[in-house]
Amino acid sequence: MALTKKLHIKTYGCQMNVYDSGRMADVLAPLGYTQTDAPDDADMVILNTCHIREKAAEKVYSELGRLNLLKRRRQKEGGDVVLAVAGCVAQAEGEEVLRRAPYVDMVFGPQAYHTLPEMVARISRASGAQLNTDFPSEIKFDHLPEPTRASGAVDGASAFLTVQEGCDRFCAFCVVPYTRGAEYSRPPAAVLAEAQHLRDLGAREVTLLGQNVNSYHGAADDGSEWRLGRLIAEIAEHTGIERIRYTTSYPADMDDELIAAHGRIEQLMPFLHLPVQSGSDRVLKAMNRRHGADDYRRLVERLRTARTDIALSSDFIVGFPGETDSDFEATLALVRDVSFVQAYSFKYSPRPGTPAAELDGQIEEKLKEQRLARLQDLLNTQQRDFNETCVGRTMDVLLDRPGRLPGQMVGRSPYMQPVHASVPENMMGQIARLTIEAGHANSLAGRIFCP
Ligand code: 5AD
Ligand code: SF4
Repeated sequence: MALTKKLHIKTYGCQMNVYDSGRMADVLAPLGYTQTDAPDDADMVILNTCHIREKAAEKVYSELGRLNLLKRRRQKEGGDVVLAVAGCVAQAEGEEVLRRAPYVDMVFGPQAYHTLPEMVARISRASGAQLNTDFPSEIKFDHLPEPTRASGAVDGASAFLTVQEGCDRFCAFCVVPYTRGAEYSRPPAAVLAEAQHLRDLGAREVTLLGQNVNSYHGAADDGSEWRLGRLIAEIAEHTGIERIRYTTSYPADMDDELIAAHGRIEQLMPFLHLPVQSGSDRVLKAMNRRHGADDYRRLVERLRTARTDIALSSDFIVGFPGETDSDFEATLALVRDVSFVQAYSFKYSPRPGTPAAELDGQIEEKLKEQRLARLQDLLNTQQRDFNETCVGRTMDVLLDRPGRLPGQMVGRSPYMQPVHASVPENMMGQIARLTIEAGHANSLAGRIFCP
């Protein structure tokens, strides 16, 4: 029997990283590692990092500085703590991580964590820091053990399931095609088996993940190719999963089958995160996006025809190189036309190695800030308005975590809004019919529906 050791994983960035962190815990469990929330207690600390914007990447180096102090303290006491950097910073700047933080023991990218046992064995044989930034996703998925509840694979009653990785779109601002590599879709059979397994572990809701999830094209055993619409339909039909979501989608990859699925499949939640980035055709072109602003408007119309109550969320970048006042106004106009229930917006951050970082016309920080504030004002107003229109409606809410006050729980509405309600204790993990009593800026309040 392996000795028990403590593992602390700190996750930065997107939901793909949350999924990967869980899988790393699954890979390390047979070596005797159990998870702890406290880095100070840990025998191994993994930072699962994000490289999407400069701020996200820099956070890692300051955290490493703190962890170095922990390592030195331990070593003085005759012990040690293994420090690992995983994820997209590791992939993008592996050598640089070891240069800036030479005390780090392991650096490995998102496609290499199935080799953790091997890397751990090598460090314990004292053969120096391990760097592994290999690429192929198909190898990783073949070598991962099944997700477990212990690794947090099912959080409350919902779970993430990575179906696709990587991106071939090469938006001019984005590091993902470089850190996560080329597109890869897991075979449908593997996805269905994992969905069933998550259901058996208690998941009622599954969010299918991929950097460009709606470009999914999995090779089925019979030689046919399944797109995402088919995959969702089969999960709905065969696994008993009651709620299905997927993220993140690329507008030009929304095909007819997937749009129709929103109208047809009851388990598919009426919420879609569909990043548009900008409302200006000129900027979209410079970003190397394969859609214009009106393509996006038309796509939204088709989605709303298929599913009238579909709620939309998006990502925006302000201050892309060369963005003029009128480009920015076009973004505001698109937001007014479409109306989003939630959104993420960012100041453009030049990323080394991406084409946009080399473009003329970089925008000064102050202007980016002004534009961001105006855009966020509008988006916040739309979100609050939507939340207010929910008051008086009855919604099914998957209650999956304790609320702030005793006796309260929080769950998600079909439209992804957090809903707080005072409910009996045995409702944890259940889907409850709630009547919405109040709409706030970021959440709703509900009570048990009494017909
Ligand atoms: N600068 C700012 N935002 C970015 N994003 C991606 N790359 C950058 C960048 N260089 C945003 C996009 C994307 C989201 C995940 O992060 O809006 O959809
Ligand atoms: Fe990045 Fe998404 Fe564009 Fe791919 S589609 S390059 S992940 S922003």
